[in-house]
Amino acid sequence: MLSISNIILMILIVMVHKTIPDHIYGPGLKPKEIVMPARYFFVNITSIVGRKYSPDLYNEFAVEIEGTSAKQSYCRIWVNKLNRRDGTFIVRYKVYDTCNDLSISLYYKSKHISGSPFTIMGPIQPDPCHCPEQNFDTWLKQYGCPKTYDKVTHSLKLHNQVNMKTKLRKIIDRFHKPESVSFCHYVVKDNEVYRNCYGKHVGFNMFSDNILLFLARKVILPDMELVINLGDWPLVRKDTEPLPIFSWCGADDTVDIIMPTYDITESTVENMGRVTLDTLSVQGNIERDWSEREPKAVWRGRDSRIERLKLVDISRANPDLFNVSLTNFFFFRDQEQKYGPKQPHISFFKFFDYKYQVNVDGTVAAYRLPYLLAGGGMVLKQNSPYFEHFYELLQPWKHYVPVARDLSDLTKRLKWALANDNEARKIAENARIFANNNLLPQHIICYHAVLFSEWSKRLESKVTVEDGMTHVPQTQFACDCKATELHEDHKEL
Ligand SMILES: *[C@@H]1O[C@H](CO)[C@@H](O)[C@H](O)[C@H]1NC(C)=O
Ligand SMILES: *[C@@H]1O[C@H](CO)[C@@H](O)[C@H](O)[C@H]1NC(C)=O
Repeated sequence: MLSISNIILMILIVMVHKTIPDHIYGPGLKPKEIVMPARYFFVNITSIVGRKYSPDLYNEFAVEIEGTSAKQSYCRIWVNKLNRRDGTFIVRYKVYDTCNDLSISLYYKSKHISGSPFTIMGPIQPDPCHCPEQNFDTWLKQYGCPKTYDKVTHSLKLHNQVNMKTKLRKIIDRFHKPESVSFCHYVVKDNEVYRNCYGKHVGFNMFSDNILLFLARKVILPDMELVINLGDWPLVRKDTEPLPIFSWCGADDTVDIIMPTYDITESTVENMGRVTLDTLSVQGNIERDWSEREPKAVWRGRDSRIERLKLVDISRANPDLFNVSLTNFFFFRDQEQKYGPKQPHISFFKFFDYKYQVNVDGTVAAYRLPYLLAGGGMVLKQNSPYFEHFYELLQPWKHYVPVARDLSDLTKRLKWALANDNEARKIAENARIFANNNLLPQHIICYHAVLFSEWSKRLESKVTVEDGMTHVPQTQFACDCKATELHEDHKEL
């Protein structure tokens, strides 16, 4: 039987789907299904108002997001608009309470743009809510995740019918070197997270804890166990037994299972929170259009690799082409006289006062690459045996300009860019498109979810919580999950 309220709800759902135009898009328009710390969507304002981009558009565009809450009359929401300076704005918002519904109003010159306000029925949960969806595949689809990634399949191909009990013993035998290696054995059982860590420096387990807890709040995770390496260096050399260890950075001569780095993962789960640099914010905190940027290559960083010192040499020989400084001496303290004095840090957003950004490895891959790609500059990337989970998809000369490992052709490459401004600009644009297609918070969450679920399917041994494992609890947060169930009933129609 259709009740009046169900009919109204169906009409509303139809209205919402009909009225959100194509040039407004992104996961933040499905806040019920896609729970994130900061929801986001894009507004292609130039195509909506039929004007070319100019900076005053930003002030003429306004956003209001409101909702009702079960607890009080309104729900608390923080809205943030970001100007990409290309005619598309990013709207981000953080929801602090369970909202019954949301109303998104978009204004141009104080008038609603066509179709606005957009009404979305909830419940819309804040990220800390522990209201997991029961069915993993349903959740994956709702969240807008692909079923799998080639890279995931590829990185797990050495691991089938894994007896984790045997593997774990071997991992401990081979890698338990407390001074130099730290890792954690995680068990996820009945959607609760447990771990045992090995090594002296296990502080980074907060990052692996965070992503596992984050996912477990959204969906019932399959039971599984895995070993996560807390160091930057991958561990499993190619010429040894391929033990299953999850790492943040890969290398050509290793076979670790690569997951997104703790850096980009943290910027995802702490978006509009503790972390301010992420692949969204970096698109909106840039003050100059391409043509206004200085035609120089910029770099800042610490002395964690010899080529970084070499970069200083190159820059000193070509001061009209580079703005490069070391910000810290640790690895080559004895060279501080020559390569110092160390310079203060500059805001990452300031890198984009320049057209070109240099990416040189640190101890391993430089984890800043996602933000450089999103920032809208042209990246000069040092060739490297190290890689992150997405590097395989990057193409030289399309998304970045490759530079020899020893930087011997860096100046030549930079001169090419200076002489071919249109091509350089195109590479910068492609890089940003790449970041928007692969490196936004939704992509990082999906990648982890798919990777962990694919991994769980390869485990043959029974997943059990060993005596003495540490339980990693969810942070307590008062939440109204029941509202979700109520709405599920409606959807059955
Ligand atoms: C905005 O939409 C127009 C028309 O569809 C398109 O040509 C343009 O590339 C879009 N802008 C961005 C930044 O995606
Ligand atoms: C290099 O960059 C810094 C930070 O943007 C700036 O303050 C400084 O003036 C620049 N140096 C030169 C020589 O352009």
